[in-house]
Amino acid sequence: MNKPLAGKTAIVTGASSGIGRATALALVRSGAAVVISARRRERLDELAAEIAAMGGKALVVAGDAGISADIDLLLESALHWKEGGGKYDVVVVNAGRGLAGGILGSDESQWQQLYQVNVLGAAHLMRRAGQYLAQRKSGDIVVLGSVVGRNISPFSGFYGSSKFAISAIAEGLRREVCPHGVRVCLVMPGIVISEFQEVAGYNEENFGKGVAQFGQLLESHHIADAIHWLLTLPPQVNVNEIMIRPTGQTYP
Ligand SMILES: NC(=O)c1ccc[n+]([C@@H]2O[C@H](COP(=O)([O-])OP(=O)(O)OC[C@H]3O[C@@H](n4cnc5c(N)ncnc54)[C@H](OP(=O)(O)O)[C@@H]3O)[C@@H](O)[C@H]2O)c1
Repeated sequence: MNKPLAGKTAIVTGASSGIGRATALALVRSGAAVVISARRRERLDELAAEIAAMGGKALVVAGDAGISADIDLLLESALHWKEGGGKYDVVVVNAGRGLAGGILGSDESQWQQLYQVNVLGAAHLMRRAGQYLAQRKSGDIVVLGSVVGRNISPFSGFYGSSKFAISAIAEGLRREVCPHGVRVCLVMPGIVISEFQEVAGYNEENFGKGVAQFGQLLESHHIADAIHWLLTLPPQVNVNEIMIRPTGQTYP
């Protein structure tokens, strides 16, 4: 079987669930070794066992994506992992969370934590990875934005603002690292059914009724397949942004 990512090592944050988990599996199927991170270690251990059963290689590094010291430990662990070649080539900046409600209705006590993970932690990871990959003169940084990080929605305005911020940071980073052969891609999904909705506080009233008209929604593996595609393009081809919606999603 063709394994275009053989020899590559990819760090995937938020790998205990949803898009991150599906992405780790897609990259392993394509031959990559993966360093998987999230807070729930038992979930990561299960995923690592699944990857080992597939004949793949995985390193578990549990930690909080909003804490700089944990992010530094993740990157250092990847560099010390012999089975991964003592280097990393790809970073998927995926860990994140939503928050139901707009500027008026969302729970303000969660604003700071949301920005800590979705913006500050993600930016710290992007900065450290960008410095390292620029020095190596190649590599990929894939950042999970959102359609609400391009089209603000009154139903998730504060969360959407965090995705506007990370989109700008991704493009700023791209302009700094592209002369050094490093690609940056912003992936903006529409509605993907995962644990995201429960964590964000969505329910039938504030979510289910609104999206019922959109028909079949996305699953995590659809986003993972797109990420895999981006990473397997020739190195001189950088798809900088990609928006992926369920076909029936009219808005946002
Ligand atoms: N689902 C959607 O409709 C949708 C649409 C657009 C964009 N996105 C974005 O896609 C990304 C993945 O979402 P998903 O749908 O896969 O959601 P999910 O199933 O809830 O997965 C989120 C992942 O992020 C991790 N995470 C959350 N907070 C963390 C923290 N403080 N420290 C470390 N890890 C943390 C979670 O792991 P632990 O809980 O184990 O730490 C989990 O692995 C997010 O950035 C989200 O904003 C999702």
